[in-house]
Amino acid sequence: MTDLEARIQGLPKAELHIHIEGSLEPEMMFELGQRNGVTLPYADVAQIHAAYDFANLQEFLDLYYAGMSVLRTRLDFQDLANAYFQRAEADGITRVEFFFDPQAHLERGIALDTVFEGLHAAAQTAAKRGISTGMIMCFLRHLTEADAFDLLERAEPYRSMLIGVGLDSSELGHPPRKFKNVFRAAQQLGLRLVAHAGEEGPPEYVWQALDELGVDRIDHGNRALEDQGLVRRLRADQIPLTVCPLSNLKLCVVDDLRSHPLRQMLDDGLLATVNSDDPAYFGGYLNENFLQIAEALGLSWKELELLAGNSLSASFDS
Ligand code: HPA
Ligand code: ZN
Repeated sequence: MTDLEARIQGLPKAELHIHIEGSLEPEMMFELGQRNGVTLPYADVAQIHAAYDFANLQEFLDLYYAGMSVLRTRLDFQDLANAYFQRAEADGITRVEFFFDPQAHLERGIALDTVFEGLHAAAQTAAKRGISTGMIMCFLRHLTEADAFDLLERAEPYRSMLIGVGLDSSELGHPPRKFKNVFRAAQQLGLRLVAHAGEEGPPEYVWQALDELGVDRIDHGNRALEDQGLVRRLRADQIPLTVCPLSNLKLCVVDDLRSHPLRQMLDDGLLATVNSDDPAYFGGYLNENFLQIAEALGLSWKELELLAGNSLSASFDS
């Protein structure tokens, strides 16, 4: 470990943008596939790695949903999340607010109970090891708002396990406004609100997430920088942005980490945080994201401390 890696590891920090299903490593995909008799369209782990070459968000999502097919039992979800929490511990993370996609499991015939109980069991183990966690249930935006309401109702018995709801999946063509009513209902249940916006979608989607959904944080937010009025709003209200550098590179949201908008976000006084998104698919967990973006943008130690501090102040337990 280099000196910088060790210092990054030692920074107290939270991860606020991690899709737990996106932490499914190829090795575990194979193992669970065998355990459950699910055949994968790959001969070996190397073939899986080779398939992870994405031109955009949708190409990734297609493999992300296919990869999940091996998750069938409560123990599978528990093993998946345990493995991520162990990585988080190694990275020096003290707080994790993680996303999960129940609709992607329900539509494969997996009971909601299996998903919640498996993830919750892993979260309890993490707590014993000093990592506090919060579960954020995401609505898939390519489905309808009625589908999202259906999930919110079915999740009622698990309300106490949740800290919030989010919005993910295919962004273009699915503006936040489409989920205005279900977000209001979630807020009335006392849940915190976040939404992916401005990853591929226009600044208008970020405005909608803020003004029509009333979100507490924006996930990604890259394209917000195209609208100076929006930048002023994000700065004035210190709306946290959960930025994911390696994800942006792998999904061609940026051509090169050296031109990543995080530099401008910091210069503009925005409350940016660094996150891993789907680390098994994008080539690195949280510290690798810190390290690579620090090197690409020439971030100072003070800026790295600021980013880590932002993650703690943007977390829902602060
Ligand atoms: N964007 C949108 N939806 C997602 C992502 C992402 O990066 N990862 C998993 N679902
Ligand atoms: Zn994401």
